[in-house]
Amino acid sequence: MSKSTAAATYSLAGHTVRRMGYGAMQLAGPGVFGPPKDREAAIAVLREAVASGVNHIDTSDFYGPHVTNQIIREALHPYPDDLVIVTKVGAVRGDDASWLPAMEPQDIERGVHDNLRNLGLDAIEIVNLRIMGKVHAPSEGTIARQVEALAGLQRKGLVRHIGLSNATSAQVAEAQGIVEIVCVQNHYNLVQREDDALVDELAAKGIAYVPFFPLGGFTPLQSSVLSEVARKLSATPMQVALAWLLHRSPNILLIPGTSSSGHLRENMQAAQLSLSEAVLEELEGIGRAA
Ligand SMILES: NC(=O)c1ccc[n+]([C@@H]2O[C@H](COP(=O)([O-])OP(=O)(O)OC[C@H]3O[C@@H](n4cnc5c(N)ncnc54)[C@H](OP(=O)(O)O)[C@@H]3O)[C@@H](O)[C@H]2O)c1
Repeated sequence: MSKSTAAATYSLAGHTVRRMGYGAMQLAGPGVFGPPKDREAAIAVLREAVASGVNHIDTSDFYGPHVTNQIIREALHPYPDDLVIVTKVGAVRGDDASWLPAMEPQDIERGVHDNLRNLGLDAIEIVNLRIMGKVHAPSEGTIARQVEALAGLQRKGLVRHIGLSNATSAQVAEAQGIVEIVCVQNHYNLVQREDDALVDELAAKGIAYVPFFPLGGFTPLQSSVLSEVARKLSATPMQVALAWLLHRSPNILLIPGTSSSGHLRENMQAAQLSLSEAVLEELEGIGRAA
């Protein structure tokens, strides 16, 4: 028996967004630093994403730095009315391409202004506070000063909505005591399942969960079970990995990253893939074995 295809849209900060979005990080140069090898190709991928129905794009001014936002602006400005651009602040790049925390309130404010300038916007729809305790895993600690800084920028009209990235459940609760939180962007995929409880908790609260590294990021997902399932469905492993996320919970919004129009098309098609209960159970085994 086939389970119906996961819903195609979700209400994010009052906007109906397609759950298949796009992550722009791969558009900068190697190591997310400097310009891409082929700027025209990067522009073409962005335009094709929007033409294919993507209306939720994830970015940050620390990709490049500045490069990714400048490419988004060149490709898409003036932006379509229904496009929701989500960015993040909380880090800057060192000259050696390192990722450095920038978590003081004045850093947060500078980060918002960098995004506004390079994206060519008067206000940013959603800004995620990227918590820099550990690089790819959340770690506990108060984030009140940083969330208050973003709330101040929201009151000034520079930021419309606020989200968190690399956050724990306790940090979400702390932030919610200060301001409305519309989304959480953490590391999660078929293999990386530490946020299982948080995904469900946020679904119950009506908060979007946006997995980063949905395809494994710099270490692409590899699993014989995933490959075998994909073969049986005449799909690719990456399509099955994305479809699994769409079936996992209705509040999951996808932002797979790609610099290739071929991969973009492949990823977009994953939204059409229905996974049966038996297939979902088989895929669950990958997470249990990890
Ligand atoms: N909040 C955070 O801390 C954080 C951290 C990391 C990322 N992010 C956001 O999350 C988004 C997604 O993460 P990500 O881009 O790092 O990782 P990802 O989406 O898991 O994987 C991207 C990698 O997979 C490749 N790829 C994409 N589609 C493919 C396909 N159909 N078949 C084979 N390979 C494919 C890409 O290479 P090609 O370019 O060759 O397609 C790239 O190397 C980013 O773009 C960024 O916006 C946020």
